[in-house]
Amino acid sequence: MTFSAVELIIKKREKQELSKAEIDWLIDNYTKGTVADEQMSAFAMAVLLNGMARSEIKDLTMAMIASGETLDFQGLSMPTADKHSTGGVGDKITLPLAPLVASYGVAVPQLSGRGLGHTGGTLDKLEAIPGWQASLSNTEMYSQLAEIGAVICAAGTGLAPADRKLYALRDVTGTVEAIPLIASSIMSKKIAEGTQALVLDVKVGSGAFMKTLDRATELAQTLVQLGKDAGVRTSALLTDMSTPLGLKIGNALEVEESIEVLTGGGPQDVIDLTVALAKEMLEQVGITNVDPRENLSNGKAMDIWRKMITAQGGDVDAQLPKAKEWHQIKATQSGYISRLDALEVGIASWRLGAGRERKEDQVQFGAGIELHAQLGDRIEAGAPLMTLYTDTPEKFERAIELAEKSTTISDGQAVERKLILGKIS
Ligand code: URA
Repeated sequence: MTFSAVELIIKKREKQELSKAEIDWLIDNYTKGTVADEQMSAFAMAVLLNGMARSEIKDLTMAMIASGETLDFQGLSMPTADKHSTGGVGDKITLPLAPLVASYGVAVPQLSGRGLGHTGGTLDKLEAIPGWQASLSNTEMYSQLAEIGAVICAAGTGLAPADRKLYALRDVTGTVEAIPLIASSIMSKKIAEGTQALVLDVKVGSGAFMKTLDRATELAQTLVQLGKDAGVRTSALLTDMSTPLGLKIGNALEVEESIEVLTGGGPQDVIDLTVALAKEMLEQVGITNVDPRENLSNGKAMDIWRKMITAQGGDVDAQLPKAKEWHQIKATQSGYISRLDALEVGIASWRLGAGRERKEDQVQFGAGIELHAQLGDRIEAGAPLMTLYTDTPEKFERAIELAEKSTTISDGQAVERKLILGKIS
């Protein structure tokens, strides 16, 4: 059946529901290039303004999956489980989580991306490890999963190519924030990847896509429903992103902190979130009554990390890159840290060179920020608050300006941070 792109845009503009055949046609023809970018931009804006019914979101997701290949891990002798985070500042959880879950006999195929803007990408972080390669063929990914149980690698171009094209268009047309488009984008890749179970970490707060609990809840419910409709056991945790996760933000710095967690140390919030997500993934595949903290402290997760990094050419014992220059910011008064804003710290770290402005930019592996205290901590005047790192000292000025603004120190009671704000299953 053939349709007219203009008529479909008008239909959505007039708040009408599109049929499965119409959505299939639109996505197929956009992927082939017969529906033009300007028509898809207008359609995306109509979706952002008028929303989509649940059945339309499902049809859109399925059409994007059908635009490319799907992976199949059925032949593995282990269950498969994956995690997806909507992204945040200092969010390095995938790094300790994948080997931790694999240490309980679950295969973790973690197809990841690069960062754009103030949130870092998992691949950029791992590329800080000398020799580590992000690109694997489907066969290499499968063998690594079968032998080691965990793989973190680049999502190949074959998975949901319609999403790749649409995401790039949304980025430049002010249509990223539409929940039907975010949900279909995330879930098309995860369902095409072929995992049996999926846990979503939907972030809420200044450093996240979703700034309010209401919007995050709506996104989480949409994601979970899409997963269930596609036969993937799916649940979501809503977690705080009003302040950075952990003490280290930046590529090599986050690898360093992940290794601390894998060796039984690290900041409490990073440990707690890693353990909560691991428990959720394990429960999805029927492994209950285990305390994932055990395999963090007894070295079993670390053994898998070493194998997983080595298998992709990484030198686990090599020194991680360090920035050439540093600058310390000190507390101007004594008191409790009552605000430590994720977005401002994230943008400051990005300005130091930890992130990229355009897709083709190189990240600086050693750049970023090390916090010396977190939200709620007591600090004395003159004590170090954070250290900024970069290879290019001319970047300091604009980063310092924002980093200094990111923190408020107050008298009185310490504020307590709630890390896990809810669960949707
Ligand atoms: N991550 C994605 O993969 N897609 C979106 O639209 C947003 C976040």
